[in-house]
Amino acid sequence: MTLPEGPLPPHWGDTMGALLPDGDVVPASGVLPDGVRADAAVRPFGIYLHVPFCATRCGYCDFNTYTAQELKGGVSRSSFAAQAIAELRLARQVLGATAGPVQTVFVGGGTPTLLAPEDLAGVLRAVDELFGLAAGAEVTTEANPESVDPRSLAVLREAGFTRVSIGMQSAVPHVLSVLDRVHTPGRAAEAVREARAAGFEQVSLDLIYGTPGESADDWDRSLEAALAAAPDHVSAYGLIVEPGTRLAAQVRRGELPAPDDDVMAVRYARTDELLTAAGLQWYEVCNWAARPDAACRHNLGYWDGGDWWGIGPGAHSHVDGVRWWNVLHPSAHAARLVAGRSPAAGREVLTPAERRFEAIMLRSRLRGGAGVELLSGEGTVAAARLAGDGLLEADALAAGRVVLTLEGRQKADLVAREITD
Ligand SMILES: C[S@@+](CC[C@H](N)C(=O)[O-])C[C@H]1O[C@@H](n2cnc3c(N)ncnc32)[C@H](O)[C@@H]1O
Ligand code: SF4
Repeated sequence: MTLPEGPLPPHWGDTMGALLPDGDVVPASGVLPDGVRADAAVRPFGIYLHVPFCATRCGYCDFNTYTAQELKGGVSRSSFAAQAIAELRLARQVLGATAGPVQTVFVGGGTPTLLAPEDLAGVLRAVDELFGLAAGAEVTTEANPESVDPRSLAVLREAGFTRVSIGMQSAVPHVLSVLDRVHTPGRAAEAVREARAAGFEQVSLDLIYGTPGESADDWDRSLEAALAAAPDHVSAYGLIVEPGTRLAAQVRRGELPAPDDDVMAVRYARTDELLTAAGLQWYEVCNWAARPDAACRHNLGYWDGGDWWGIGPGAHSHVDGVRWWNVLHPSAHAARLVAGRSPAAGREVLTPAERRFEAIMLRSRLRGGAGVELLSGEGTVAAARLAGDGLLEADALAAGRVVLTLEGRQKADLVAREITD
């Protein structure tokens, strides 16, 4: 079974560069096992599109993404939309009568906004033509601050994108520099204003804390700058030193100190304090929303056992307990589709025990929590102990829900391990 580790949005595990799990062979047609999605109507259905291109690679990032130099022929940014639409057609064929309508679309990366906005618009049109977009569908694209402008945002909004998630990371020059970010400190806030002017319903900012050399004051400045832009949603992640990255090499060589767990916990508490004071409520360990309807519905689908088809190199999909993952390299992904074959590299059919395990792992990260009926006897005993230790809300547990306290959120991985026995 493959689960993203650490405080990550679920699609992160889907697109990371280093390794793909083993798994069963997927038929060339991509056909799903018998009986899958018989009850399709009861779960939300989303489309994730992974755009595997970046202008430069940030030293901390191990996502499945390629700079122009790293792409050796075969695939180019300009041909990618057609490649994505080819996989959408395959998805439509495989899902047949159970396909759509699509409640959420999330275009992530990489840097989706390196594609021409007309290309992203074309992919969204194809989603609508092939599956139908549900009324009020949430349609998000991630964006790097320097890769959008008023015109591109206007084209995306006009095409039906409703939400933009901007990678701000920090507002402090020396922190941005350690992170290898190429935008200026003020550019993210400017992009928020441009997105609002273009008519986006939801604007989100991504932040990273715990970067080597970042002081408590630096982090306050970043939070304050983010809040001054009045986002509808903030995602804040503790910096993870991913093996194989340039950052990991710098830490190994002693050029940069490793992020410190205690500092991370303090930064998390400060994040929650300032965001809450500004009216944003946590709804998942790393995510805060200004209003209940500003929570990211697409990501909630992942955390809540929804179905989604992941389009693009390295993307993972989950439909009714069947999970599969695509080949990583954009050229391999394109070659499979050109040959009329599924780009899936492998798949697994989750057992009921694995589905229960995942439900506990993911739902316990949500403010609404996981139902205690999911826990085994040992998990129930562990939950009572954790409530006694102040990591789970005692009242919620008494009412049948496993809900993290602030301290529990700081140790969310540990709690999840303990209650899944
Ligand atoms: C893969 S990026 C895609 C968005 C866009 N390319 C950008 O960087 O602005 C999604 C988010 O992941 C976060 N991220 C990526 N690698 C991380 C790491 N090693 N530790 C913590 N956060 C990370 C960043 O906050 C980033 O905005
Ligand atoms: S721009 Fe985003 S996806 Fe690209 S390397 Fe940097 S963090 Fe990773």
